[in-house]
Amino acid sequence: MEETTKDLEGVVFSHEEVADGFRFLQIRIDGHLPCARPGQFVQIRPSRTTTTPFLRMPLSVSHVDRVGSTFGVLYDVVGPKTRALSDMNEGDRIDCLGPLGNPFPDVPDDARPVLVGGGIGVPPLLHLGTHLRSTGMDPILIVGARTAGKHLPLELLSPASEHVRLATDDGSLGHHGFVTDLLAQALKEEDKPVVYTCGPHPMMAAVASATESADVRCYSSLEEYMACGFGVCVGCVVERRTQANSPYDQFTRVCVDGPVYDATEIVW
Ligand SMILES: Cc1cc2nc3c(=O)[nH]c(=O)nc-3n(C[C@H](O)[C@H](O)[C@H](O)COP(=O)(O)OP(=O)(O)OC[C@H]3O[C@@H](n4cnc5c(N)ncnc54)[C@H](O)[C@@H]3O)c2cc1C
Ligand code: FES
Repeated sequence: MEETTKDLEGVVFSHEEVADGFRFLQIRIDGHLPCARPGQFVQIRPSRTTTTPFLRMPLSVSHVDRVGSTFGVLYDVVGPKTRALSDMNEGDRIDCLGPLGNPFPDVPDDARPVLVGGGIGVPPLLHLGTHLRSTGMDPILIVGARTAGKHLPLELLSPASEHVRLATDDGSLGHHGFVTDLLAQALKEEDKPVVYTCGPHPMMAAVASATESADVRCYSSLEEYMACGFGVCVGCVVERRTQANSPYDQFTRVCVDGPVYDATEIVW
């Protein structure tokens, strides 16, 4: 992929299961250096030649390897589109539209980035953490999952942070409880934290509430259902908190205005 959005055909470079149902797919697009910034996503579909699945699926870019000319996505197999993707093998051709959406904003001066992810929201934070570390920053990465088997392996998490803190709902790995418990602890430890979050809606709503109460800046990457992915179908709207003059302005299209928002802008 190049800096501008392109509709290109790539090839599956590697594809493996890395946790329960979670797969890591690396794609190479001949003649194009991958360049998605942290927070951006691609709309992908197993092939141009079939009509099933009909719609592309949005997946966050989790890895960019400019030397090997590949980019990676991590996805959980949850339904027809992700199941079709999971059948792809090395060398298969894959339809890629991207990069799409706006990246996470820069970290303010002197602030300590605290990345909070859950489930399918972890992939964009891996790209963000790896990028921040390459610029000399030292992010904390807090990750939640239902159970130990749903956690990505440390070799995928550690490039994004030297301070990985895990939680599980059932207590089978790390902290027994929610990521918000670990976030509260991190907010106490840090003088000037800034939070970046992506995950299930209730988790991000809780993170938004905790950061607002603590008067800490928080950027959330929303993963709404999407159809087109480029602003036409209005299938991905969420409500803004500020009162607008028209219903049209009251709502925002996550695919083109987001997916990253200041958490205080959104009606959770
Ligand atoms: C900007 C963006 C980035 C995304 N990044 C990733 C990613 O990096 N990895 C990843 O695994 N998924 C990601 N998703 C979600 C992914 O697009 C959906 O899981 C996928 O489209 C599901 O398609 P399906 O046909 O397999 O399942 P469907 O039949 O569409 O859904 C199966 C189940 O998954 C749930 N589901 C589907 N879409 C979403 C969603 N957007 N948010 C929450 N729950 C959903 C449904 O409620 C249902 O229970 C992202 C979504 C967006 C909008
Ligand atoms: S997905 Fe079509 S407008 Fe956002």
